[in-house]
Amino acid sequence: MIRKNGSIFCLETPHTTLVIKADTAEYLYYGKKLVSAGNFESCRGLPCKLLSQFGQDDYTEPSILLENADGGISTAFTFSKSKILKEKPQIPGLPSSYGKGKTLELKYVDEPTKVALYIYYTVFEDNDVIAVSSKLFNASEKELHIRRLASLQLDLLGDYSVVTFEGAFARERQKVSRTLNKGVFYIDSKNGASSHNRNPFVMAKGQDGVYAFNLVYSGNHKEIFEACESGKTRVLTGINDFMFRWMLAPGEQFDAPEAVMCFAPDEDGVSSQMHAFIGEHIVRGKWKKKERPVLVNNWEGTHFDFNEEKLLGIARAAKKAGVELFVLDDGWFGNRFDEHRALGDWYDNIEKTGGGLKHLADKIREIGLDFGIWVEPEMISEDSDLFRKHPEFAMRVPGREPTRLRWQLCLNLADEKVQNYVVRAISDVIARSGATYVKWDYNRTLTDPFGKGIPQGEYFHRYMLGYYRIVSRITEKFPDVLFEGCAGGGGRFDLGNLCYFQQYWTSDDTDARKRLKIQDGTSYGYPQATMGAHVSACPNYHTGDSNPLETRFNIACGGVLGYEMDMTKLSVEETEVITRQIEFYKEYRKVLQFGDFYRLGNAFGGNVAGFMSVSKDKGTAVAVVTVYEQIFGGPAPAVKFKGLDPSSVYEVKAREQANYKKAPCFTAGGGFLMQGNVFLSDIYEDTQRRENSGCLYSRMFLITKVKKEYS
Ligand code: GLA
Repeated sequence: MIRKNGSIFCLETPHTTLVIKADTAEYLYYGKKLVSAGNFESCRGLPCKLLSQFGQDDYTEPSILLENADGGISTAFTFSKSKILKEKPQIPGLPSSYGKGKTLELKYVDEPTKVALYIYYTVFEDNDVIAVSSKLFNASEKELHIRRLASLQLDLLGDYSVVTFEGAFARERQKVSRTLNKGVFYIDSKNGASSHNRNPFVMAKGQDGVYAFNLVYSGNHKEIFEACESGKTRVLTGINDFMFRWMLAPGEQFDAPEAVMCFAPDEDGVSSQMHAFIGEHIVRGKWKKKERPVLVNNWEGTHFDFNEEKLLGIARAAKKAGVELFVLDDGWFGNRFDEHRALGDWYDNIEKTGGGLKHLADKIREIGLDFGIWVEPEMISEDSDLFRKHPEFAMRVPGREPTRLRWQLCLNLADEKVQNYVVRAISDVIARSGATYVKWDYNRTLTDPFGKGIPQGEYFHRYMLGYYRIVSRITEKFPDVLFEGCAGGGGRFDLGNLCYFQQYWTSDDTDARKRLKIQDGTSYGYPQATMGAHVSACPNYHTGDSNPLETRFNIACGGVLGYEMDMTKLSVEETEVITRQIEFYKEYRKVLQFGDFYRLGNAFGGNVAGFMSVSKDKGTAVAVVTVYEQIFGGPAPAVKFKGLDPSSVYEVKAREQANYKKAPCFTAGGGFLMQGNVFLSDIYEDTQRRENSGCLYSRMFLITKVKKEYS
């Protein structure tokens, strides 16, 4: 709801209030919902601005920086008008949130140049996340250059610590907390993607609670925090201004990507708001709320070494265990016998598929599984027919040796001809195979950003616009297909991608110990139904460590479950264990994938970690509790559950796991389960430690309400 009183706008979400004074471009309040509005003007102190510019008496990080037609960089945007829009406006060419909600449009004009800046705030009726975006319109008669246009500026008062999610390949989204000292701190990405290294989801933790921010964008981004001497903390998020210089001709507009923000008393509150927002206003299409199939993917099991017989063997074994979807990963096309060649040649390798994609897909369907396919559409190998025919499609600087990563180059997606080729080629793969699932991979970063005729300062963003044009056309063409994004694991896991792909491969590291942290870190900003999570074989391909099959399953239940192994190699006992796992998963899939998600313990720094998913009515919950190591003589591991009804009685029953002799069961009040310590008395098991080099101790609990009121 948006209420107006003169130039003051009060934006209300179910639990928060944002008050904006439009004529002075100020925030008067943002935080916990205000019961009554009162007189905001009388309690104004330090101005918290929603836009900041350079060239006036302000030397803080600006939200907007232009090279004007007059040769100067000074701007003086002043208030022009405001409007409340009934519908949320679309952002041309870019992904953005959707849904019912009113939007406040604010217009500021730099009078000398007639350039107009529009800032939009959308308030969804059902959700606490506020979407913010900016647009610049050049109403002058001369061109100008944009050097920075932040998607969102929020000024906060007081001291904050910043929480970011950082990492690398196979180590994505590790939680990092820092105290902000006076000065500027920023994180960014320059490699063309939202990156493995620094996710655009960030939090600022202060005395009153936690502010969280994310960007609906998959390219270079920058999140700036400036703790000013005045006591103000500025937060800016948007496209990275590194190498950014965008020419705006007269009559043209530039749209910055959408940013989102929310406030909650604590980190759990932030996660639950962000999860609900993504589930309702970012993820779309048929799969939005639909339970996701249990899949088997052949990558870790076979890599490039497969043929029809091998694949059908895996499919049969998987079907027997209860798997629903078979995903054929890299290596099925062109001359792709290894990673040195054939990217771009999206025609069937007859030898490896035993007669083509359709032939293989039909056989998989005869076995009783749906068929899914892997593609890496943004890439080209120099040893490919595509490169031989269209070397100009590759992104490279003429006259220079290109940088090769994983022996491949990127396609120049800023070129419309290349975009059209990709749409045609990939649509054909999906149509001819009848795939109901597509894994869209992206296995290298951009290194030689270049496209003929495209100014360098525009290249990265033009690449993204080309990318979004491709993915929107393909996903619109195949509305029934479930898309899973991937970027060398989770290197482009962001809200931009989740507008097209309903789920994302969280990491190439499937080792349970590493995964627990990667998924935990990811879960701060993203819901479990968007996180691909697979059980793979041991010793683990990346770490060489081993963990019990039941532990691997428990942890994979923190996302969308799959198996990624050669299932023909399983023993009879292992097949039985997996069959029981899948049976359990299917029974509780709805709550696991779409329930309210809570992190348990402390994955980054504690010895006990885990998660639980609770049904909306708080009647059923599935919890996974994991202990990193047995500390001899140390404290007995214990957990506090979350999200239950404190006044109800619950039965807590351990799932029968093949690696534990007993499956304890007890009843207790919801209040006790959340406030008391539930000791994990049977968690240590010697055999597990002896048999597994990277052993985690993990149990899954089914928690069901048995009595409504505790008496
Ligand atoms: C990336 C993905 C893997 C797999 C390989 C195939 O590394 O993250 O899951 O698909 O590519 O080459």
